Amino acid sequence: MSEFVYGAATASYQIEGAWNEDGKGPNIWDVLAPLEGHTVEGQTGVVACDHYHKWREDVALMKELGIKAYRFSLSWARILPEGTGKVNEAGIKFYSDLIDALLENGITPYVTLYHWDLPYALHQKGGWLNPEIQNWFAEYTKVVMDAFSDRVTHWITQNEPQCFIGLAYRTGKNAPFYKLTWKEVLEAGKNSMLAHGRAVQVIRKYAKKKPTVGYTVCGTVGVPATNTERDWEAARRDTFVPSERSLFVISMFLDPVLFGRYPEGAEAVYSSDLPAFTEEERKIITAPIDFIGVNEYSGHRVMLNKNGQVAEQPKIPGRPQNQLGWDIEPESIYCISKLLCERYQKPVIITENGFANADLISGDGKVHDPQRIEYLDSYLSQLQKAVDEGIPVLGYFYWSLMDNYEWQHGYSPRFGLIYVDYGNNCKRIKKDSFYWYQKYIQSMEQK
Ligand code: BGC
Repeated sequence: MSEFVYGAATASYQIEGAWNEDGKGPNIWDVLAPLEGHTVEGQTGVVACDHYHKWREDVALMKELGIKAYRFSLSWARILPEGTGKVNEAGIKFYSDLIDALLENGITPYVTLYHWDLPYALHQKGGWLNPEIQNWFAEYTKVVMDAFSDRVTHWITQNEPQCFIGLAYRTGKNAPFYKLTWKEVLEAGKNSMLAHGRAVQVIRKYAKKKPTVGYTVCGTVGVPATNTERDWEAARRDTFVPSERSLFVISMFLDPVLFGRYPEGAEAVYSSDLPAFTEEERKIITAPIDFIGVNEYSGHRVMLNKNGQVAEQPKIPGRPQNQLGWDIEPESIYCISKLLCERYQKPVIITENGFANADLISGDGKVHDPQRIEYLDSYLSQLQKAVDEGIPVLGYFYWSLMDNYEWQHGYSPRFGLIYVDYGNNCKRIKKDSFYWYQKYIQSMEQK
């Protein structure tokens, strides 16, 4: 894989809208998000950023921004309205045209197969709880290969199983908003990893151009309180060793995918709720990937206490946070890059990183977002530190290209470099951070 790439990211349900146009089938968010109590004010992605109609304008904005790569996801139900079976040619055409336009503008598409919008028809058959889903996902992946792999070379199978399994089936925050037992949730997690592995196999078998394949995860990131080996050990354990039941321990998905087993400590924490893998399943789950994608926003400082246990450094009241209450911890991007490469010996791509704020249009008609610029500046310099140390981090994707539908939180948290004026026909306004990132990319290209 070649030189460092700067990009921006989005996801289908969060930006496309056109939820029932041109033959698209409904997905779990379309159907379940409007139901009472699921999302802020029952907000959904029915229109979202109207990207389905404004994608040409959006590609022009990407070009102006100067990004060399764009990470977006495909809506499974736009391609296969029922999840399997009949292909929706209009859906294929939409993505095909988008891909062509990106390539014409010198922007490499990084395509995520699954970013949380499961076709509703598959949910009705049990969704991620049904072991059949590995076959459904493999079928979908094959359709995608046939349609786009003559032009797309960079693939991400899934985005954050922590969220589409953990938040979706355990804590009830993401569609389908279930609160199930750990046994069921871990089975769903295993099904997701089998589906991931099957997709990797399908990509390798059918891709028309040599593929580069990744798997994107997220999780709690331990940052050493001081730069001592002792505190680095605390960070390592905090990041990789489960000490309580939480899928946000990043190794719960990465260890099976890269090592074919759950991390040390998992058995003690989950005991008989932890599903076993047969030899055949292990082979599928560990189908070789080329890079680890990680979505990195925040972190917390840890140390080893007198008893040799991981302890969190007391939090400072009034510390910097984003609009969702996530602590700002720039070093976390350096730490997670280093820790992942060290443990898994694979290149890493930061597939998401960004700042949510309650941005607004000022009297001068512009959107001034100095806090986002500060966030970007501090995180990118920590990332550069990792690169300078020779840690194989290959790319950075800002989340998000534009403000969008922030799932259960609706439209108020704004992550974009581009402001979307939802009440005004989704008019796009470039924020100050757009110009900052544009200059940053230019300056890095001149180095
Ligand atoms: C997800 C995005 C989401 C972002 C900010 C990530 O967990 O992949 O879909 O919008 O974080 O919450």
